[in-house]
Amino acid sequence: MSDPANTTTANAKTASATAANAATGITAETLRLHRAQFPALATKRYFNYGGQGPLAQASLDRIFTTFQEIQRIGPFSGAANGYVGGIRQALRDRMAQELQVDPSTITLTEDVTMGCNIPLWGLAWQPGDHILMSDCEHPGVIAAVQEVQRRFGVEMSTCPLMDTLNTGDPAAVIAAQVQPKTKLVIISHILWNTGQVLPLKQIMEACRAAQPHVRVLVDAAQSVGVLPLALAETGVDFYAFTGHKWWCGPEGVGGLYVSPEARETMHPTYIGWRSINYSATGQPAGWQASGERYEVATSSYPLYAGLIEALDQLSSIGNAEERYAKLLQQSDRLWQGLGAIPQVHCLRDKAPEAGLVSFTLSHGQHSALVAALEKQDYHVRLIADPNCVRACVHYLTLDEEIDGLVGAIAAHLA
Ligand SMILES: Cc1ncc(COP(=O)(O)O)c(C=O)c1O
Repeated sequence: MSDPANTTTANAKTASATAANAATGITAETLRLHRAQFPALATKRYFNYGGQGPLAQASLDRIFTTFQEIQRIGPFSGAANGYVGGIRQALRDRMAQELQVDPSTITLTEDVTMGCNIPLWGLAWQPGDHILMSDCEHPGVIAAVQEVQRRFGVEMSTCPLMDTLNTGDPAAVIAAQVQPKTKLVIISHILWNTGQVLPLKQIMEACRAAQPHVRVLVDAAQSVGVLPLALAETGVDFYAFTGHKWWCGPEGVGGLYVSPEARETMHPTYIGWRSINYSATGQPAGWQASGERYEVATSSYPLYAGLIEALDQLSSIGNAEERYAKLLQQSDRLWQGLGAIPQVHCLRDKAPEAGLVSFTLSHGQHSALVAALEKQDYHVRLIADPNCVRACVHYLTLDEEIDGLVGAIAAHLA
């Protein structure tokens, strides 16, 4: 499968038409029935999927029944250990299936930021090494990079990707700043502030051409659950994601893909009984061969089961391509609706390639709009840089929710 980011970026001009005409295979009736399973969606018009997705009742139930089962057979017993070990493996397999990678490359984490911290602290930094980071990364990740920089005497610079939203070539902008000492490049697959989808495969090729040994860490907070992925084909080293945003899983469960090559050279930093193999006498005997080496110790396994259920729920509505086509159809509807309001300026000058639709108001006053909308049960959020409002559209989003949001914004500005 081709890298969807490449495809969508290259064909950005035609994205609108493609989205509008896509045979999503998801009918309005199917969607209505599917949505009825999400209690949070019954009481509000929700546009904050990029912050946190809602949980289906089946996921909530599965979390509860998994807790009950652990109590019934344990909580600590051979049977309970086997049960939770099976859940861990099932989640790893399920994540690998979604990313189209081998399960051995997946590390179970809590969230995106922990997934980023694993390579940030695991790479063998030398004073003078260089980190290149985009100017659109999340504050939590920036803070971790700044501390790595301070502790190990590493250089850091940022490359200006925000300006490539409507024109320019992000791969060329990044490659131009890769130096002989660049050890790590950090980008997001989808920029959380502007909604731009970066052409991951092209970026990987450009980085490797500039510096063959460079590693690339991708923050996938906004891409997993949105883009159909064939990750192994991209050549990426680290891809950190979470279940609680676009996958609509419970908060507290995420994952990290580490390529087999990167795993060979990167030791774990946070270490516990899940990281290791055992000798005959029960002593530590080397790292686990797989991505489990970066896992630590006891986690809340019922949450893992809740995420498996969430993934089952979303695949029941359509495959990754169908869901992405539906999401694009809906984000295009919002982008067009907002574009028809004279005082609203969408950051993108063409149809979105993802579910994030960011916009400004000609008079500013973004926080007043966000607060006024929340009072009417429309949930959007402020973004500080660039100063804008972000509305997230999922395949779950209904036409009438989008039209209602556009109407509420127009009424607020009238
Ligand atoms: C791009 C990006 N990175 C990281 C995060 C933080 O995610 P988590 O809480 O899963 O670490 C977010 C959350 O909004 C995000 O959008």
